Amino acid sequence: SQPCYILAVETSCDETSAAVVKDGKEVLSNLIASQIETHKAFGGVVPEVASRKHVENITLMLQEAVQAAGITPQDLSAIAVTQGPGLVGALLVGVVAATSLAFALSKPLIGTHHIAGHIYANNLVADLKYPCMALVTSGGHTELVYLEKEGHFEVIGRTRDDAVGEAYDKVARALGFPYPGGPHVDRLALESEEAIPLPRVWLEPDSYDFSFSGLKSAVLNVVNQRKMRGEPAAEGAIARGFQESVVEVLVTKSIRAVKSYHATQLLLCGGVAANKGLRAELSRQCEQEGIELIIPPFKYCTDNAAMIGAAAYLKWKEQQFAGLDLRAMPQFSL
Ligand code: KG4
Ligand code: ZN
Repeated sequence: SQPCYILAVETSCDETSAAVVKDGKEVLSNLIASQIETHKAFGGVVPEVASRKHVENITLMLQEAVQAAGITPQDLSAIAVTQGPGLVGALLVGVVAATSLAFALSKPLIGTHHIAGHIYANNLVADLKYPCMALVTSGGHTELVYLEKEGHFEVIGRTRDDAVGEAYDKVARALGFPYPGGPHVDRLALESEEAIPLPRVWLEPDSYDFSFSGLKSAVLNVVNQRKMRGEPAAEGAIARGFQESVVEVLVTKSIRAVKSYHATQLLLCGGVAANKGLRAELSRQCEQEGIELIIPPFKYCTDNAAMIGAAAYLKWKEQQFAGLDLRAMPQFSL
């Protein structure tokens, strides 16, 4: 049969990205324009600014993604776009670009869920075996998702307040680091010999949900108390205590979920999948338990369009196409 070339577009937050993915597996191009430098000055993502930046970048990027893939627009099988969840103004830029291009080229259009993208990033580097479990950890999401079979998503647990990456970014800010602070906290935690003990939040015994805002507040209290008492800031010990708490809860709940759902693989995804502490502890426990752990390379963990192309391929196989009235869905359930 003919190869399937999907041109995928991702603009849900602060990365403008376009990619061409062949048969849901092979990344022919994956261009990403990060706006981190733009948003750094504000200490976080400013939605209005993000939308404007997407508008500046998207059209040329679509052209370049096709060129870099070594194909022509007419070779494309479909255009896919992140429909949600995300910032509405940011999503709209991608949706309008993708629908217009689908109309101009008379190509089918595929609406994709951002989290389905994060999960199927794993499909770019491994063959998924079902049933499997995915731990989605990013700046906006913390979810345990059960996949009984291909394309069937069941969210079995989610954060009730802050996402993990969000908690990392807030803790980093309290410790004096710029946005995005996750990598700084990760580095400090690994360098420190000592850890300040901080609470673990387990919620109900059978719950797969998470809560990180109490932990974040506990960190802020420690930081403020030390300041008031004139004690040394102890950033390293705080970072390490914070990371130990986060990692223990994430890993324990993920392993319990894999076992009780009889999943064969655990897929890690989202920006926080870059966290060295999390990767190390998850690897150690998965090995001990005989669970196959898949972690995509960093470029497919943070927001990118290749993962959207991988997820869109599932809908391509089912010929599940969207109309040109495809809407951006800022709140969008899997
Ligand atoms: O997936 P992503 O690029 O964007 C969202 O969809 O949210 O994730 C970005 C998040 C940020 O909060 C960033 O601080 C966090 O991932 N992050 C990390 C690390 N690298 C990135 N958090 C902890 N440790 C890291 N090494
Ligand atoms: Zn994301």
